[in-house]
Amino acid sequence: MSSGRAPGHVVITGASGGLGAALARRYAAPGTRLLLLARDAARLQQVAADCTARGSEVAWHSCDVRDAAALGALLQTADAASPVDLVIANAGIEASLGPGGAPEPLAAVQAQIDVNLAGALGCILPLLPAMQARRRGGLVLISSLAALEPLADQPTYCATKAALLTWGEAARPWLKRFGIQVTVACPGFIATGMSTRYTGWRPFEWSADKAAGTIAAAVAKGRSRISFPWPLVALIRLGKLAPGPLREWVRDLLFKVDVAS
Ligand SMILES: NC(=O)c1ccc[n+]([C@@H]2O[C@H](COP(=O)([O-])OP(=O)(O)OC[C@H]3O[C@@H](n4cnc5c(N)ncnc54)[C@H](OP(=O)(O)O)[C@@H]3O)[C@@H](O)[C@H]2O)c1
Repeated sequence: MSSGRAPGHVVITGASGGLGAALARRYAAPGTRLLLLARDAARLQQVAADCTARGSEVAWHSCDVRDAAALGALLQTADAASPVDLVIANAGIEASLGPGGAPEPLAAVQAQIDVNLAGALGCILPLLPAMQARRRGGLVLISSLAALEPLADQPTYCATKAALLTWGEAARPWLKRFGIQVTVACPGFIATGMSTRYTGWRPFEWSADKAAGTIAAAVAKGRSRISFPWPLVALIRLGKLAPGPLREWVRDLLFKVDVAS
């Protein structure tokens, strides 16, 4: 974090694969304690072994971020044993429109809200009172560039990521008064299980390791937001300056929803 010291105790959700596993390996080092959370115990255990080999003290728990009570109890127990310095709310899921432009089922909408928004806050809120009392701590919210420029074929996913970004922006001045740093990460496409399931165009896709390194560096510098890759960020910024109808036209062109089948 911006103190220049590496965080001593780091919690990462969605650490069983993809970006979360890359972040775990990035933070794994002697003197750093990691708490890794996700549902898949076998994959978590493998990531935990990699992090242990890098000299970190590692605990892992199989848990579903939608189980707020269990998650809260787990986090508070971990914090009581060793104060948490940094929480990375990374666990996330996505869904796309159905064939022929069919809407997402309500269950898929609810699941994305529950994991991407409520699940992210569920791993932050239980730790906040203790962080506020200590007057230090860091929160990292893994949002997406899709929060800044939505993908036409993933409306709910984009809405949840925009909500997370907005929560982070709103909470920053409040939590700054308690010495708590809030960093919102808005990555573009990252080569993970999630992105390979996405059938649309994935320009400027980064590796998970490169994304994790960039996010960790931004957190260390005390950045409030980190967005990448820069060509997409620049295009999005430019797009915001364009008149509405032109933006709509480009969006239609780039993200065609298949309504023919
Ligand atoms: N990949 C991209 O292009 C991209 C771009 C921008 C932002 N992001 C964001 O980056 C984050 C990581 O995504 P990723 O690309 O690494 O995807 P991923 O490879 O599918 O990994 C998602 C992680 O979330 C965990 N997870 C999912 N549902 C969970 C639940 N209910 N409870 C606990 N853990 C759960 C998964 O673990 P289990 O299945 O073991 O539970 C897994 O570890 C997400 O928030 C995503 O929205 C990704």
